[in-house]
Amino acid sequence: YPITAPDDISDCVAATDGVQDPDNAVRGVACCPPPSTSAPKNYVLPEFTELRIRPAAHRLTPEYVAKYKAAIAAMKALPDTHPHSWKQQGKIHCAYCNGAYSQVMNGHPELKLQVHNSSLFFPFHRWYLYFYERILGKLINDPTFGLPYWNWDNPTGMMLPAMFEEPGPNGNPRTNPLFDAFRDVSHLPPAIIDLNNRDDNAGANCVDQIAANLSTVYSQMVTNSPTTSDFFGTNPDPKVTPKVGSIESGAHTAVHIWVGNPRMPNREDLGNFYSAGYDPAFYVHHSNVDRMWQIWRDINPYKNLDPSDDDWLNASYVFYDENEELVRVYNRDCVDIHKMGYDFENSRLPWLQSRP
Ligand code: C2O
Repeated sequence: YPITAPDDISDCVAATDGVQDPDNAVRGVACCPPPSTSAPKNYVLPEFTELRIRPAAHRLTPEYVAKYKAAIAAMKALPDTHPHSWKQQGKIHCAYCNGAYSQVMNGHPELKLQVHNSSLFFPFHRWYLYFYERILGKLINDPTFGLPYWNWDNPTGMMLPAMFEEPGPNGNPRTNPLFDAFRDVSHLPPAIIDLNNRDDNAGANCVDQIAANLSTVYSQMVTNSPTTSDFFGTNPDPKVTPKVGSIESGAHTAVHIWVGNPRMPNREDLGNFYSAGYDPAFYVHHSNVDRMWQIWRDINPYKNLDPSDDDWLNASYVFYDENEELVRVYNRDCVDIHKMGYDFENSRLPWLQSRP
């Protein structure tokens, strides 16, 4: 049976799974979205005339940074109850990841909906970003707006993009809409990320750290991902723990832990599912994770194939789209980013030459 989010997404429970210290969960574990008066409609990918191009975050022009900041500022200015608000967008991650829904309709109330650590990881996050990007574009009246990607697989992108921490008006970082108070201050730019998230590189100079990161990406994209299930993981199952995909368990999680603040009770924001969606950097990180899916297919198109079983193709989630309509979306409709209306600005892949 395919994993299915309920029609009434506001019918959900407090999302405490995986929150080590729920009493001190600064972002709150009540993550249910605002109720809708109608049942979700099956989503049909809209027509478009121009692809949205997602640019590399570290190469953005000042104009693009300004546009992106204006969009996030507009999102933050919406009332918290609005489905497009910063708060509601952040809650989506919590609801789908910390046990707010279960599979009652599939006869498995014991199975909580969890879009991580399984083959739901890539498609769920693709849809989540898809609507987030369209909402941001709508807020600034730009139907071609593309969500930047944090190019952490390229040496020039291996630090938190500077725009997230630069001071805003009045020279204060807090007036920058991309700022988040819950990040590890020792990992702000110019600290080079450790994509292995192991202490064996602690203290490495930046040249060694960059080389180690490139080998890490090569291993996860090539050596450890020869098959579909190695790359995607396997489907959720009430009886067995699914396999986790190589990028999900690897560089993806490393970035989360590296950015989250270890002094916070639940490593907020990026270091816990329940709070990750409140940091604007989350979406830019996941834009690159989404890009990794596309690249994995492109580097070996005859062999690197998406899952094709019915349970995967028919798994579905429910979102509010950019018109505040409640829609149900299926994995099967997110396998072609060009049909979805976007693509990624090209960036070199030096890790392809970095076989360890
Ligand atoms: Cu839904 Cu990067 O986690």
